[in-house]
Amino acid sequence: MEKSLLLFIFLSSLQIFTTAQDSTYDSFVKCFAQNKIPNDQIQSILYTPTNPSFTTVLQSYIRNRRFNVSSTPKPTIIITPTAESHISAAVLCAKQLKIQLKIRSGGHDYEGLSYVSDTTFIILDMFNFRKIDIDMKSQTAWVESGALLGELYYRIWEKSKVHGFPGGVCPTVGVGGHVSGAGYGNMLRKYGLTVDHVIDAKIVDANGRVLDRGLMGEDLFWAIRGGGGGSFGVILAYKMKLVTVPETVTVFRLEKTVDQNSTDALVQFQEITHKIDNDLFMRVLLQPITRNRVRSVRTTFIGLFLGDASRLLSVTDSEFPLLGLNKTGCREMSWIDSVLFWGNFDNTTKPDVLLNRNPESVNFLKRKSDYVKTPISKSGLESIFKKMVEIGKVGLVFNSYGGRMDEIPESETPFPHRAGNIFKIQYSMNWNEEGEVADKNYIEQIRDMYSFMKPYVSKNPREAYLNYRDLDIGVTDNGKNSYSQGKVYGVKYFKGNFDRLVKIKSAVDPENVFRNEQSIPTLSFQGRKTRK
Ligand SMILES: Cc1cc2nc3c(=O)[nH]c(=O)nc-3n(C[C@H](O)[C@H](O)[C@H](O)COP(=O)(O)OP(=O)(O)OC[C@H]3O[C@@H](n4cnc5c(N)ncnc54)[C@H](O)[C@@H]3O)c2cc1C
Ligand SMILES: *[C@@H]1O[C@H](CO)[C@@H](O)[C@H](O)[C@H]1NC(C)=O
Ligand SMILES: *[C@@H]1O[C@H](CO)[C@@H](O)[C@H](O)[C@H]1NC(C)=O
Ligand SMILES: *[C@@H]1O[C@H](CO)[C@@H](O)[C@H](O)[C@H]1NC(C)=O
Ligand SMILES: *[C@@H]1O[C@H](CO)[C@@H](O)[C@H](O)[C@H]1NC(C)=O
Repeated sequence: MEKSLLLFIFLSSLQIFTTAQDSTYDSFVKCFAQNKIPNDQIQSILYTPTNPSFTTVLQSYIRNRRFNVSSTPKPTIIITPTAESHISAAVLCAKQLKIQLKIRSGGHDYEGLSYVSDTTFIILDMFNFRKIDIDMKSQTAWVESGALLGELYYRIWEKSKVHGFPGGVCPTVGVGGHVSGAGYGNMLRKYGLTVDHVIDAKIVDANGRVLDRGLMGEDLFWAIRGGGGGSFGVILAYKMKLVTVPETVTVFRLEKTVDQNSTDALVQFQEITHKIDNDLFMRVLLQPITRNRVRSVRTTFIGLFLGDASRLLSVTDSEFPLLGLNKTGCREMSWIDSVLFWGNFDNTTKPDVLLNRNPESVNFLKRKSDYVKTPISKSGLESIFKKMVEIGKVGLVFNSYGGRMDEIPESETPFPHRAGNIFKIQYSMNWNEEGEVADKNYIEQIRDMYSFMKPYVSKNPREAYLNYRDLDIGVTDNGKNSYSQGKVYGVKYFKGNFDRLVKIKSAVDPENVFRNEQSIPTLSFQGRKTRK
């Protein structure tokens, strides 16, 4: 009896669910038709959950297994535009039907904001917009937002062995999210951020208009170079200025245990890493390990030097002797091979692996970030190691700052973490067990590490990097308190640039069509009235 009753309730709720979805779908079909999209195109770009391809399309760009489980909220529709008119229609229809629109390019958002939401939503999936047009005469590239970083690096390499681009190190990251959220990689100290090399853009705004830099104006163009695309419009493409790279670069990866005086090396690292030759970028991985049943922390120094090994060694010998780098530890190679090295491919891999859109493996994961402005003492490092061993699974990644980053004013782009930083920390937790219990457990552990680090990192605000999305630092419900809610995470991500982002947002998207859990709020109605 009870079972069949439950089944009945289940089936009827399923029925209601399906009907609600059907009506959203019907409304979108109607609205797309009103926007002059031909019916055959509508049929081929709109997916409902009943479409046999829906799940494949949805899962194709999920890059965190935490959001690839049955309890993950699913979109009512996925739209896969193949023309600009489809995107304009999607924006206008989402606005008219008051439904949340999530925009996805590479799907690497650490909190899944491009394809998950607790409120009813649809996905605008940009994977068909992946054209890359390189013009070597002007040394520029127009890159559509659904292109992946690896594809961009590959296309540059096809045209020139002495050009590159200062973007992220993971080749499957999407251009749309990466660039609109600032972007950095292993040429940060030499060339600054990805957005420091963006010279034009194309966007679909809240009114469905297609605008380039000239048409959108300098304010909006400023906002979409670090303020997050998801708050301002649908980015169609960015135009980038390429940078030059030497024919030969040098990489190294050097592991040290505590017995090998890794702590002293880390003390010296913090004295020099932001001041050393700008051609050198270093990343340090701190990972808890167990060796001979003894738990400790392993330190790995990974470097990219834009020059040959002998010049690198003259730099490290004089300024970072405790690194202990020697000729055998250095590997000279082309810039594109260094991209593969940093992408953790083995040294027999050919560059065309960069055209593979699927990552090797995807974990359950959680990330957090911090900035360090004063060196952490040896005893501080020792207590951090102790805490990491105690927790057991959380890793820390230090990324050198300084160089070009010290020369660019905080207000140049929305990304404010410029001068005065020694390095940035990424907190990294990966796991392989599915389920809420595991999620809760591992997320608690990374939060514990993050609280422990408070004395060592930036304060007032405790700064964070937008592209290392972390919903722990604040969220908005996009309701009447959205400004005060937004300010909580907004000053951490943008410091003094937050209020300018709010002003621009209020001007270009007053109805808040482009919203998510951490979007830029509009000024409240109350606020707007009193300002008049
Ligand atoms: C394995 C891995 C490695 C990483 N390495 C680096 C690194 O080296 N350097 C670095 O800076 N970051 C790195 N990141 C972070 C990465 O830059 C961000 O996650 C970035 O936002 C991903 O872009 P995406 O297009 O892949 O993500 P998505 O999940 O598609 O999008 C991220 C956000 O941008 C919005 N968005 C996406 N496309 C558009 C668009 N066309 N128009 C408007 N809004 C849009 C989404 O709605 C979402 O809010 C890494 C992430 C991962 C998972
Ligand atoms: C998502 O889950 C499906 C199985 O349901 C699996 O085939 C796919 O590889 C998973 N993708 C990711 C990114 O976890
Ligand atoms: C570590 O430092 C100690 C003290 O400075 C020194 O005696 C020892 O040789 C160093 N060990 C290594 C492996 O460099
Ligand atoms: C070079 O450094 C490595 C450690 O990276 C060490 O094992 C090796 O002995 C060193 N070689 C020389 C010649 O010093
Ligand atoms: C590749 O790496 C291995 C060791 O990991 C090394 O022996 C070999 O020489 C390398 N090959 C090239 C082409 O660099």
